[in-house]
Amino acid sequence: MTVALVTGGGSGIGQATARLLAARGAQVVVADVDESAAQATAAEIGPAAAAVAVDVADAASVAAMVAFTVERFGGLDWACNIAGIAPQPKPFVEHSYDEWHRTIDVNLSGVFFCMQHELRRMLEQARGGAIVNMSSGAGVVPAPGQPQYTAAKHGVLGLTKQAAQEYAAAGIRVNAVLPGQTETGPMRAYLDAMPDGGEKMLRRLPMKRMATPLEIAQAVVWLCSDDASYVNGDSLVVDGGLITR
Ligand SMILES: NC(=O)c1ccc[n+]([C@@H]2O[C@H](COP(=O)([O-])OP(=O)(O)OC[C@H]3O[C@@H](n4cnc5c(N)ncnc54)[C@H](O)[C@@H]3O)[C@@H](O)[C@H]2O)c1
Repeated sequence: MTVALVTGGGSGIGQATARLLAARGAQVVVADVDESAAQATAAEIGPAAAAVAVDVADAASVAAMVAFTVERFGGLDWACNIAGIAPQPKPFVEHSYDEWHRTIDVNLSGVFFCMQHELRRMLEQARGGAIVNMSSGAGVVPAPGQPQYTAAKHGVLGLTKQAAQEYAAAGIRVNAVLPGQTETGPMRAYLDAMPDGGEKMLRRLPMKRMATPLEIAQAVVWLCSDDASYVNGDSLVVDGGLITR
């Protein structure tokens, strides 16, 4: 049976991914810094899922998460590195160093730590594997008012390409998904902070609506699956056509 690990599995896109992986027959570890959210997601999925607390910005915590996965389900085949945070938007010159460091720690170093430990395990097993990292449209165009988020999401694409080349011969594929605006808690808060509640931004979207978390999860699960067996080092944009404009 396929064993999958999802960071940020307690809510939003990560939660939708954990549910979909289980629906497609995988055993799933739901990992999140919010332990009760991870537990709730795992409980809803049932015996095919287990929850673990992790802070992806802490390498020791990440090592423990991968060890838990192996202990609980006997290995690791697919890893979805989805956990992330979004800073409050403001002008470039007003961001504090603390905000810079926290976003880079979680969104970029967190992905690096996860990939290192996941890859080590996959190499040890010698049965291939797939890793999907969560970037963003901000991985290719700037997110207004969020320079550290933009930098981190560009960096995730670099890490993805680097590992994709290095481990392809070991049968491990590494890809990234770049969602556009997706209907989750942080996106809702981002829109609510705008004077017009984000109405202008929503009107600009080609499909006149945001993505659902499930629509992003479907791309993540496809990239994990054998249906994407020759897709490696890719950056799959799932934004309803926004950045083609
Ligand atoms: N929602 C969007 O519009 C959108 C667009 C592009 C990219 N993304 C990316 O998708 C990912 C998921 O975002 P979402 O909108 O579902 O947000 P969300 O807040 O609903 O989910 C993120 C999850 O990550 C967890 N998390 C945060 N910090 C963590 C840490 N240090 N260690 C472990 N878990 C941690 C949170 O507790 C939460 O459960 C993020 O990487 C985000 O940058 C989201």
